[in-house]
Amino acid sequence: MGYQPAPFITFEGGEGTGKSTQIRAFAALLSHHGIPCLVTREPGGSAGAEKIRSLIVEGDVGRWDVLTEYLLLSASRRDHLVKTIKPALAAGTWVLCDRYIDSSRVYQRLRGLDAHVIEEIYAQLSEGMEPDLTFIFDLDPGVGLARAAARREGEDRFEQLGLSFHKEVRNAFLELRKTFAARCCVVDASLSLKDLTEILWHEAETRFLKKDAV
Ligand code: TYD
Repeated sequence: MGYQPAPFITFEGGEGTGKSTQIRAFAALLSHHGIPCLVTREPGGSAGAEKIRSLIVEGDVGRWDVLTEYLLLSASRRDHLVKTIKPALAAGTWVLCDRYIDSSRVYQRLRGLDAHVIEEIYAQLSEGMEPDLTFIFDLDPGVGLARAAARREGEDRFEQLGLSFHKEVRNAFLELRKTFAARCCVVDASLSLKDLTEILWHEAETRFLKKDAV
């Protein structure tokens, strides 16, 4: 399939929106079409970043102040980018990433970190790289939190922040779509897995596989 360089696609949204299940279904469809792809996640996605992950997602909400939290996320993101994402893209492999910088633009911003700090550190670690396409999974946070609580043990540092925080998370993701309109695509996460997979495929095909794709 002739798209060079391969696209970097991120999956964003609140807790329990079904992103992770959806990524696997989408990856299976890409493989079926003969497209090489790699599924990865943040925090994590490389050996070093996975070590940092437990520091970020486990423990009490107040374990870190928000700048420390963002520095940990940024260290893990840098390692992930250098060791996993960039080599895969350079080899022509599509990268599907469960959460990335937009999660910081929403969660760490809502926890009080200055937007300039977020952008300056990200610019340094990424050398200006942004995803090519971002799916924002939109869902009523009441439904999402209930789903997340039912499946998770230990990794609930952010879920502890409660429903009103997660309503703000939903709104902030919808705002982000306006800032990064060209690459952001909001999807209704209450749809069936099959319907969502079709929407994702249509979007990716239009952008990256059609002959006149830019
Ligand atoms: P994750 O395990 O992907 O949760 P989910 O299955 O709900 O997507 O992410 C763990 C938590 O880390 C999630 O609550 C959001 C938070 N997070 C941030 O606050 N900032 C970030 O930059 C990232 C990547 C995640």
